[in-house]
Amino acid sequence: MMGSCRLIGVALLLCTWTVAKQSQEGTGSAQKDDNYTATNDNSAPLTLTVLKEGGNQSSPLLYGIMFEEMDHSGDGGIHGQLLQNNGFQGTTLGLTGYKAIGDVDILEDTAYPVSDAIASSLAVQVPIAVQSYVGFANTGYKGVPVINATYQSEFWMLGDYQGTVTLQLVGSASGITYASHNLTVDSNLSHFTRYNTSFNSTAAPDGNNEWRLLFDGAKVAGSELNFALVQLFAPTYHSRTNGLRGDIAGVVEELHPTFLRFPGGNNIEGLQIESRWTWNETIGPLINRPGRDSDWWYPNTDALGLDEYLWWCEDMDMVPVLAVWDGKSYGEIVSGPELQPYLEDISNELEYLLGPANSTYGKLRAQNGREDPWRIDYIEIGNEDDYTGGCETYPDRFMQIYNTIHSQYPSITIIASTIDELCLPVSPPSGILYDYHYYRSPDDLVAMFDLWDNQPRSQPVIVGEYGCRNTSEEEGVFWSFVQASCSEAVHMIGLERNSDIVKMAAYAPLLQHFGYTQWSVGTFIVAPCGDRIVG
Ligand SMILES: *[C@@H]1O[C@H](CO)[C@@H](O)[C@H](O)[C@H]1NC(C)=O
Ligand SMILES: *[C@@H]1O[C@H](CO)[C@@H](O)[C@H](O)[C@H]1NC(C)=O
Ligand SMILES: *[C@@H]1O[C@H](CO)[C@@H](O)[C@H](O)[C@H]1NC(C)=O
Ligand SMILES: *[C@@H]1O[C@H](CO)[C@@H](O)[C@H](O)[C@H]1NC(C)=O
Ligand SMILES: *[C@@H]1O[C@H](CO)[C@@H](O)[C@H](O)[C@H]1NC(C)=O
Ligand SMILES: *[C@@H]1O[C@H](CO)[C@@H](O)[C@H](O)[C@H]1NC(C)=O
Ligand SMILES: *[C@@H]1O[C@H](CO)[C@@H](O)[C@H](O)[C@H]1NC(C)=O
Ligand SMILES: *[C@@H]1O[C@H](CO)[C@@H](O)[C@H](O)[C@H]1NC(C)=O
Ligand SMILES: *[C@@H]1O[C@H](CO)[C@@H](O)[C@H](O)[C@H]1NC(C)=O
Ligand SMILES: *[C@@H]1O[C@H](CO)[C@@H](O)[C@H](O)[C@H]1NC(C)=O
Repeated sequence: MMGSCRLIGVALLLCTWTVAKQSQEGTGSAQKDDNYTATNDNSAPLTLTVLKEGGNQSSPLLYGIMFEEMDHSGDGGIHGQLLQNNGFQGTTLGLTGYKAIGDVDILEDTAYPVSDAIASSLAVQVPIAVQSYVGFANTGYKGVPVINATYQSEFWMLGDYQGTVTLQLVGSASGITYASHNLTVDSNLSHFTRYNTSFNSTAAPDGNNEWRLLFDGAKVAGSELNFALVQLFAPTYHSRTNGLRGDIAGVVEELHPTFLRFPGGNNIEGLQIESRWTWNETIGPLINRPGRDSDWWYPNTDALGLDEYLWWCEDMDMVPVLAVWDGKSYGEIVSGPELQPYLEDISNELEYLLGPANSTYGKLRAQNGREDPWRIDYIEIGNEDDYTGGCETYPDRFMQIYNTIHSQYPSITIIASTIDELCLPVSPPSGILYDYHYYRSPDDLVAMFDLWDNQPRSQPVIVGEYGCRNTSEEEGVFWSFVQASCSEAVHMIGLERNSDIVKMAAYAPLLQHFGYTQWSVGTFIVAPCGDRIVG
């Protein structure tokens, strides 16, 4: 049964935003100091003197965003594809997201893979007596947002069938049809055929909807058809194919973030080496992307892949901060000579991103729709190598990867994933940045106001993740609260006054789908049925 699609309440990060805004405005060019006086019944008068000159120079990149696939922030979140489990990626989902429509049986069918990467399809078995239109639905990420807009939809099909296929958007509880679109197909049993089409929809009042694919059951009675890699997109951000969800990317854009740190975060690391984030399996046609079991306990489709992150950066005018896998997974760590193949993999990734279109990997990038090299100025080596057993081997792994990158791309700024000198080389190379992450209670975050005052001025940092959490429960508590927001604001003033060395900072996480929350709280929340977004 679908849950309620109404939000029960929202706490805004009002305090953070208000203070951040004021302090940004405070860097304006007025000549005189302003004195503010505040009084109320319970407090003594307070005079605040704001100097408009002097102070440490602010980094132009100070406030950016950090993204990793978690809480369905990407699949079911900012990525535009709205149907869940569309390629049966990972090992845990089974038939999640699907339901039979009419008198048919549906099952995940590994006997008919649509590609090497997408190793299952959906078999729809039609009993002998069926006369009506039948098929299946996909209920999305706890619902499909249905708006007044033009949708793009795509599917692959196998089995003998000539005639009409009907795609619909339907209210799951109401049964109301918001869109119904016929296309004529000519499918056979020898190869999967790809169909894509577009149609208009009217708006549904809530997100409790499903996408349906129906066909004439009489033509298939006693037999079956297979369908694979079903997709549905509402209009995307900057109208990109396989792009971001327009409504969600739109509010992220309003933050005017200066950089994007991606693709993790824990999620780059992998629970095991085998399930690490591998760049070369997140590029090119979706039919070639296998997806993976992720660190956050649900499969990733990787439809939001390496190139999509970089289109996102370019469309939102953000500087990419690319993390590369550095030998540490949660289960196992490779270092020393065994790191060699992974160093080559990083070189290949960088050739894919930065090489000319006639280089081996640059050619692949051009084939995938990007002729000109991307621009990468910052690369982070791993994620949180002071945790989960990484510390001891990080100096070795860091230096091997640093040398690999720096020898080929000396102008790229390298970021270490820890600030703990015990986990860093004894004499780190000059010109690197250190990344420090912290999630704290309100009192702790306020107490860390002066954390960066004492940082050596020769050792610049990024605060790749920070946030206040109600830590009274291990997973956090869903909503933010004013005290937390104020503590973040206090802490952010500490970041700003030290922005000569605090080069970048990102509140994290950026986004969560409220129907799949594992960690709270994030900057933005997608409502439980995926149809609305709140801050
Ligand atoms: C603000 O207060 C300071 C200290 O009392 C005083 O020197 C200064 O003139 C005041 N500035 C304005 C604009 O009133
Ligand atoms: C639906 O969108 C179209 C095109 O943008 C617009 O002309 C129309 O007024 C919209 N209809 C409703 C009911 O909002
Ligand atoms: C779509 O096809 C079905 C089945 O043939 C038919 O009943 C329906 O009228 C068609 N709809 C449109 C808009 O043509
Ligand atoms: C079967 O469909 C495939 C894919 O659309 C097509 O290439 C092929 O020619 C078809 N085969 C027959 C026998 O119609
Ligand atoms: C089919 O898909 C391509 C991208 O793969 C897209 O550019 C095109 O607009 C789609 N066509 C229709 C009719 O939706
Ligand atoms: C779909 O909507 C678009 C935008 O409103 C409009 O231009 C187009 O004609 C519509 N298509 C159909 C088939 O109604
Ligand atoms: C991606 O690279 C890894 C090596 O890191 C390799 O094992 C794998 O086969 C490659 N995948 C594809 C699709 O090329
Ligand atoms: C790639 O193109 C450049 C300039 O057009 C040329 O100088 C270079 O030799 C080419 N490299 C390869 C590997 O073909
Ligand atoms: C600049 O940074 C230094 C070192 O943290 C700090 O002591 C000083 O107060 C900062 N200056 C201003 C005006 O905030
Ligand atoms: C933190 O969450 C707990 C519930 O788990 C709640 O009782 C407490 O009031 C929350 N603290 C704040 C400051 O909101």
